[in-house]
Amino acid sequence: MIPFSPPRIDAKITDAVVEALNSGWITTGPRTKLFEKKLTEFNGNKATLCVNSASGGLELMLRWFGVGEGDEVILPAYTYAATANVIVHTGAKPVFVDSNADFNISAQSIEAAITEKTKVIMPVDLGGWPCDYDAINHIVNKIEVKNLFQPANELQKKLGRILVLSDAAHSLGAIYKGRPTGSLTDITVFSFHAVKNLTTAEGGAIGLNLPEPFDNEEVYKYLNIKSLHGQSKDALAKTQIGNWRYDIFEAGYKYNMTDIQAAMGLVELERYRDDMLVRRRQIFDRYSKIFSKDARFQIPEYQHQNTVSSYHVYLLRINAIDESQRDEIIRLIFEQQISVNVHFIPLPMMTFYKSMGYNIEDYPVCYQNYSREISLPVYYTLLDEQVDQVANAVIHAVDTVLK
Ligand SMILES: Cc1ncc(COP(=O)(O)O)c(C=O)c1O
Repeated sequence: MIPFSPPRIDAKITDAVVEALNSGWITTGPRTKLFEKKLTEFNGNKATLCVNSASGGLELMLRWFGVGEGDEVILPAYTYAATANVIVHTGAKPVFVDSNADFNISAQSIEAAITEKTKVIMPVDLGGWPCDYDAINHIVNKIEVKNLFQPANELQKKLGRILVLSDAAHSLGAIYKGRPTGSLTDITVFSFHAVKNLTTAEGGAIGLNLPEPFDNEEVYKYLNIKSLHGQSKDALAKTQIGNWRYDIFEAGYKYNMTDIQAAMGLVELERYRDDMLVRRRQIFDRYSKIFSKDARFQIPEYQHQNTVSSYHVYLLRINAIDESQRDEIIRLIFEQQISVNVHFIPLPMMTFYKSMGYNIEDYPVCYQNYSREISLPVYYTLLDEQVDQVANAVIHAVDTVLK
């Protein structure tokens, strides 16, 4: 069986993990702090806080901005549940909007969905392809949109506009118009979940890039406390002589990353751009070379001038098929011992979100993208022969269903 996305676990990773285990410090400590520093350099933002998941990171930032009941947060209907669930946790209303043909949130739909209740926009870089951030940042800075914004606390007053909190769970290392993900919006949250390009088993990072007059270092320090039960000192600081006494400033959360995770992350980041992304790109190119020869297929957008993907998920679409034909094609691919996937079933099709009143008919592009989509395996150790095997299995399944 060709798996969908196994992690790259080799001796470098296991050695680093064993070293962390033997170091005498396994929770948040020097390795996490070093990983944060390296991520900040890599992403070109102002400060980075590592957390135990992207979900935790996104929720922490919504809470930091004071999002809650009565507020609205705009996000694409086409995303994983995490993006929307964290909004629901805060008591705010998720406002789904439609996508573009490139799978990403439509800037035009964002603009149409903004009300005086809108506090945050959460774009998602689907499959690793960056959203149109110039368009999104332009919208939140428009005078009429700023005038509509109703700040409800000091932070919101300080920003004076809608916050752009980007869900970059898929897009570490992607480049938008020459600039890396992380430096494109106010806040960017990455995921290091087991299936992601860079994995720490579970984990995530919050990239801070807030504009003046915010002091990102100060925000980082505050979030460090907020992500650790509101405790004035972390466990490592408390071990220093005479430093045992601590205070609780607020009822914070428990979102910290461990040094075992950071040990993996440090190895992964070191070889990310020049090795991991290179191999992923080769796989994307190989699939594209095969599928672009056949008019039944639509290949995903992943490089255009100085915008490039992080090559996270290969989102293949098949032209002129419906959802049930797509499902049958997937069944036939699995029969050939190949794992594929669908990214994603749009949230308005899920029981919970349907019960909140959302209807997939209101998101036609989203449904069009979804109903024809099949995600193909992409991972570091996938061999060229296996890429060909996957492609042949897809073509064979399509031949059978469309004969
Ligand atoms: C688009 C998107 N956002 C957020 C998440 C949540 O990431 P994590 O598992 O690190 O919480 C995922 C995870 O798959 C995702 O695909």
